[in-house]
Parts: sequence; structure tokens; C-alpha cells
Amino acid sequence: MATLTINGRPVTAPAAASVLDAALSAGIEIPRLCHHPELSAWGGCRLCLVEVEGQRAPVPACGLAAKEGMVVTTRSERLTALRREVLDFLLSDHPLHCVICDKAGRCDLQRYAYEFGLLDSSHEKEFSRTLYQDDNAFFIRDHQYCISCTRCVRVCDEIVGRPRSKCRSAASALTSPRRSTRRWSRPPAPSAATACRSAPPPPCCRWSGWARGGSGS
Ligand code: SF4
Ligand code: SF4
Ligand code: FES
Repeated sequence: MATLTINGRPVTAPAAASVLDAALSAGIEIPRLCHHPELSAWGGCRLCLVEVEGQRAPVPACGLAAKEGMVVTTRSERLTALRREVLDFLLSDHPLHCVICDKAGRCDLQRYAYEFGLLDSSHEKEFSRTLYQDDNAFFIRDHQYCISCTRCVRVCDEIVGRPRSKCRSAASALTSPRRSTRRWSRPPAPSAATACRSAPPPPCCRWSGWARGGSGS
């Protein structure tokens, strides 16, 4: 156990907890995109940057072990500017097609862009990923929408237990082939993941599909 101070509040964290875990368990929200509670920390998106007393540069909270006596700040003008810049760069390589995107309304990138006041990137748009594949029965993969959070890769490596090269069906910017309606306009239907032999099913597969009329997933 370690007791640290986050935003002036004492917070107790279990052994091996990260600063992000400690903050979230205390109800302190920190923006994050690549973090997933069931996966190892990757520290790639840099959205969860926090300031730690005694350290000059902000550090990602998801990969930072919570230590006794640590003093952490999760909100400041400097952090807001850094997070905004991270999002600005992500959007420079991301088509903002939220109006027609299946993720709209349940998309962290969309939510953070809104919260940080970004309607689009201030940088020149440059799309580095253009591969589009619809040869899978369960998913469409559209790499344009990938923000390289590596969650899918970590699911394959750490939970499904298969090498990523054999787990392509769970990778990429994934949407349902039945992409005609919004999530909230459809009743939930059983998950396609019932076809997956992984036990327990990985987090990416713990979803219910939404199909018009509730049939199928
Ligand atoms: S993935 Fe999110 S941010 Fe990107 S187009 Fe879809 S809803 Fe918008
Ligand atoms: S395809 Fe994988 S790496 Fe890309 S955004 Fe989706 S989960 Fe993240
Ligand atoms: S959530 Fe910490 S770097 Fe992405």
C-alpha cells in the first residue's frame, strides 16, 4: 500500500498500482486513450500526462507506479495545453467523419476532442493509413480510423494468447459490417464473440451488437 497526494487529496493505492489506477479509484478522472484496466500499460497516447512534484517534465500516469509520499497534479493549464496538442496531432491523421461513424456517441476520441474544444486539427491533414478490409464475417477494418492505441494488439498478445499475426480479425479500427444505424437506435443483440474460442473472452469481444430490429449482431 502507498499513500500519495493527488490534487491535494490523500489517496491510498494498493501495491503495484499506477498513479492512473490510484486516481481513478479515488474518483479523479484523467483523460486516457490507450489505457485499458485489463491490459498492461503501454504509455503511447500521452493523454494521461500528470505533473509529479520534483520532476520537471510531465509523465504518463498509466505507466507510473504509485509511491508513498508522491505528490501529483492531474489538472493544470500546462497539462491541458499538452493534452490538447496530443489530440490535435491525433486528429491530423484521423478523418473526422463522426456524423457517419458507428462509434459516434461512444467514442473517447470524439468526446475528448469536444471537451478540449477541437473541431478539427490545426495541423495539415495527412492520412498515413488507408487500408480498408471487409473480408471478415464479423468486422470491417478501416485503418484510417486507427489511432495506434495498440489495445487490440495487447488483447491478442496478453489475453487471447495468440501471436498478433494470427489474430488479425481482432485488430484494426473495427466496426460491424451492419453499419446502417446508430447504436442508440437499435436494441442490443447477442455478441458475435460467441464464435470466439477464447475463455474468458477478451475485453474487445465483450460487447453486444446492435442490429436494426435486434436480430443478429
Ligand atoms: S472514430 Fe470517433 S472521432 Fe473518429 S470519426 Fe468515429 S466517432 Fe469521430
Ligand atoms: S485498431 Fe487497434 S490500435 Fe487501432 S485504434 Fe483500434 S484498438 Fe487501437
Ligand atoms: S493512457 Fe497513459 S499514455 Fe495513453
